[in-house]
Amino acid sequence: MSTGRFVSLEGIDGSGKSTQARMLAAALRRMGTTVIETREPGGTVLGEAVRGLLLDSPKGSVAPAAEIHLFAASRAQHVAQVIRPALAKGTWVVSDRFVDSSLAYQGAARGFGIETVLEANRTAVDGCLPDLTLVIDVQAATAAWRRSGNGDDRIEAEGVRFQELAADGYRELARRFPERVVLIDGAPEAEAVHAAVMTRILGLS
Ligand code: TYD
Repeated sequence: MSTGRFVSLEGIDGSGKSTQARMLAAALRRMGTTVIETREPGGTVLGEAVRGLLLDSPKGSVAPAAEIHLFAASRAQHVAQVIRPALAKGTWVVSDRFVDSSLAYQGAARGFGIETVLEANRTAVDGCLPDLTLVIDVQAATAAWRRSGNGDDRIEAEGVRFQELAADGYRELARRFPERVVLIDGAPEAEAVHAAVMTRILGLS
């Protein structure tokens, strides 16, 4: 029987989710679990090419509706080529972002609405939703402070208000899908956040 689990880490830019994804994968390995670490947009050759288009294009050069479908295209490839095959082998998948990023950023922050973006992602996700989605929840101002010094990509350049809308979007997702989407307070230092992440993970298996 397959024992693989699919966990996604989510949060606004500067929330610390990538650090938490790495710490989670390392902890799972120490427990003897086979795990792959992956990310969106990206995770495949096609997805990394789409990532370049999405993040490195000049401001104003990607229509908002095109953005939805480019993220979804990267995701479709990611599910088909990486996530589903790994789960089928019983491997755990830890993904730094997945569909909830689109729901929070394109749905809530850009204003398309969660339903519209979920619908646009239906064939990409193809029923392969995470067993658990951990949202590292921080205030946009805290996240902006943590990010300062790193250059902004096209989406980060949208500013703090945009990140605030995305953070609210994630909170809405936790209310809407409480069985799957859990908020973790991202304000404490990384080790304390990691402990909260592990509590949720241990509840999974
Ligand atoms: P990320 O890889 O977290 O950025 P970084 O390389 O700085 O760690 O995410 C890239 C950006 O893409 C981020 O601003 C969030 C955005 N994004 C969306 O808007 N929608 C999506 O579906 C995904 C996956 C990412």
